[in-house]
Amino acid sequence: MDMVEALFLTPEQRLLTPYYEDEFATLYHGDCREILPLLGQFDLLCTDPPYGKVKGDFDNEWTNRPAMLASCREWLDAMVPCLKSNGTLYWFAWPSLAGRIEALLAENLHVLAHIVWCKPRSSAQTHSPEALRAPAPETERILMAEHYGSDNMARGESGYAAQCEESRRDVFAPIREYLVGELARSGWTREAVNVAWRTKYGGKGGMSAHWFSKSQWAIPTAAHYAWLRDLFNLSGCTAYLRKEYEELRKEYEELRKEYEELRRYFDMRTGDQKTDLWKFPIEMIQYGHPTLKPLALISYIIRLSCRPSGVVLDPFCGSGTTLIAAKSLGRKSVGIEIDERYCRIAAERLAGTTPPLFPAPAAPAKPRQDNLFTEDKNEG
Ligand SMILES: C[S@@+](CC[C@H](N)C(=O)[O-])C[C@H]1O[C@@H](n2cnc3c(N)ncnc32)[C@H](O)[C@@H]1O
Repeated sequence: MDMVEALFLTPEQRLLTPYYEDEFATLYHGDCREILPLLGQFDLLCTDPPYGKVKGDFDNEWTNRPAMLASCREWLDAMVPCLKSNGTLYWFAWPSLAGRIEALLAENLHVLAHIVWCKPRSSAQTHSPEALRAPAPETERILMAEHYGSDNMARGESGYAAQCEESRRDVFAPIREYLVGELARSGWTREAVNVAWRTKYGGKGGMSAHWFSKSQWAIPTAAHYAWLRDLFNLSGCTAYLRKEYEELRKEYEELRKEYEELRRYFDMRTGDQKTDLWKFPIEMIQYGHPTLKPLALISYIIRLSCRPSGVVLDPFCGSGTTLIAAKSLGRKSVGIEIDERYCRIAAERLAGTTPPLFPAPAAPAKPRQDNLFTEDKNEG
């Protein structure tokens, strides 16, 4: 686009003009708080926002913790609407702020894990003991969260059950609508199904409310689906509708597959790091960004939590590691970066036109013990 064309763009069009674009990745240059509201929803949000007073010029915007946390809240408020109801968020954080950020996340989302990223052969062990007044941080944290778990049941937290139910209503609507449709086609009513249930299994209730209504929805088990099939095929209900009815249209395996495709994706495999302690070495290849994350670690997150047809979002994409990892795994991705210098690096990495600049820098001489905000009175 030339300068004259750019003059006629609306502010929204200007924000959404990609800095870089290819078949897999789209990169926007700008403030994610302005761009996120213009985007749709994503399967995976994998992001590494500034840690605050750790490393990099972008880390020094704040002089105290409350101000830093206020920014985290703004970022989160902009991100949550971009997460699909069955999507997953991973948020990188520095250990001393991770607890506070987790508390922020928990106000909006259901925190699934507080992952400890441990770096083998870290330099922390080499610090002289006199330089330390507390254990040196050797780990970074990755907070994993989802919208209120659509495939979970209540866990006793206040409001949790209601929130789960709301997500279940959204996420599994296609399967519920299919079952309701089959009920109507068969000529049975919910109450009649409950009566049949009680006749077979005893008790006072039935499963109709779970299978055919929005409240407390649950997928039938294979055995119960087979029972429903037999029931719907029984003669004795409305004769006219019976003539129209020809079996439940879907095999149980098909229904279960659809259920798996709708629920939050999590592709843990044999041989994977299965606990919340993850070991990944720091990235040895650098491209001129001070806080580049290891490609192997980001690739692991994407493989775990973004189905192959899904789209990944990184609103703080720095040198574009998330976009590179997504592309190499055949996933589409969108990145946002506020600093044009880092957009350039990301674009060059994506286009494959930049060689690595230098190996990872040597360990810092002084240990970083905490987020040392100058005005910090521990009030955050
Ligand atoms: C910790 S770095 C991310 C590094 C990245 N994971 C990588 O591997 O290159 C955070 C990035 O967020 C960018 N940033 C800070 N505030 C931002 C904002 N409001 N919108 C978009 N990007 C922002 C910074 O310029 C910085 O490059």
